[in-house]
Amino acid sequence: EKRGFRHFMLKEIHEQPGVIRDTLEDRIGDATGPIRLGLSNDLFADLERIYIIACGTSWHASLVGKYLIEELAGIATEVNYASEFRYCPPPLNPRTLVIGVSQSGETGDTNAALTAAKARGVRLLGITNRPESSLGALVGELIDTRAGMEIGVAATKTFTAQLVAFYLLALHLAHLRGTQPGERIREILIGLQQLPAQIEGILDTQERYITELAREFDATRDFIFIGRGLNYPIALEGALKLKEISYIHAEGYPAGEMKHGPIALLDSEVPVVAIAVPGKVYEKTLSNAQEAKARDARLIGVAPLDEPAAVETFDQILPVPVVEEILSPILTVVPLQLLAYHIAARRGLDVDQPRNLAKSVTVE
Ligand code: M6R
Repeated sequence: EKRGFRHFMLKEIHEQPGVIRDTLEDRIGDATGPIRLGLSNDLFADLERIYIIACGTSWHASLVGKYLIEELAGIATEVNYASEFRYCPPPLNPRTLVIGVSQSGETGDTNAALTAAKARGVRLLGITNRPESSLGALVGELIDTRAGMEIGVAATKTFTAQLVAFYLLALHLAHLRGTQPGERIREILIGLQQLPAQIEGILDTQERYITELAREFDATRDFIFIGRGLNYPIALEGALKLKEISYIHAEGYPAGEMKHGPIALLDSEVPVVAIAVPGKVYEKTLSNAQEAKARDARLIGVAPLDEPAAVETFDQILPVPVVEEILSPILTVVPLQLLAYHIAARRGLDVDQPRNLAKSVTVE
């Protein structure tokens, strides 16, 4: 079943282009009509505020989702850890939409938080690849991400599928509320349809390079990942992937926060991975990366290949094609998944079943 791949995780990383095609399939037509998510319009009428509840990687996807909903549809959105929300819920009312995001649909904290929210009369929406799950039964309305089952404990294809679901939702809301011109919605939808081929390009060209690069971190004990804006959650996700399968200590930070403490950790022993793609925070991120370099940190950039400022800043570049910044997270996460995978695989670890972890965390 691994179809020639050494681990399910690697197979699932490679399945991402197909999964994204499936998630988009028949939902956007020729990108000129409305987005077909099969959701009732009542869910969104007079909406005041959105809370998104999730754990782990699904929480990271939700942070990108918040950015998209606020940017494209202008609705104030907060993301909560399910384990916090369930005991310390914010004020809720019938004009609040609560979105539960979960790959397994069986995460105990997420389902308990959704149950508590439901009792307070909010509207509920689920985002999952398991519509048949307990989460599916709990929420009235659902976006099926169509990523199917995921075997590797480290979430990869389910994450990118959740991201795609959030783009579709944010654009759907923008369409309903008239917050973006049709042309802008169409532009982003067209960009989304190009992502699968772009990911195929990253997988085809970088797998070998990243396998080689991974050798250099055999003795590394700590990593820092930085990013800003939409790519701050991707820095968190890169750090989580690495720590959960390689057991290397890794932290993700918003790049601008480094100077408020974490920069004290840096020296030549601590590699810094910076996500720096053209857009409104590009120069700022590069200058944060240069601050790390001034502390002798080895700098790896997830960045465009031929961009002079990036070439000058980074010791190594894991290249991603240049796309509009808003679409970039779906590309920037892929080299980070590969980096985590190859570092852990080289260490001979059980990548698909890391110690202390389970695929569904049903217990509190
Ligand atoms: O099934 P869920 O998406 O609700 O799971 C949430 C987390 O337990 C999960 O994302 C976990 O962090 C993964 N092992 C991350 O790779």
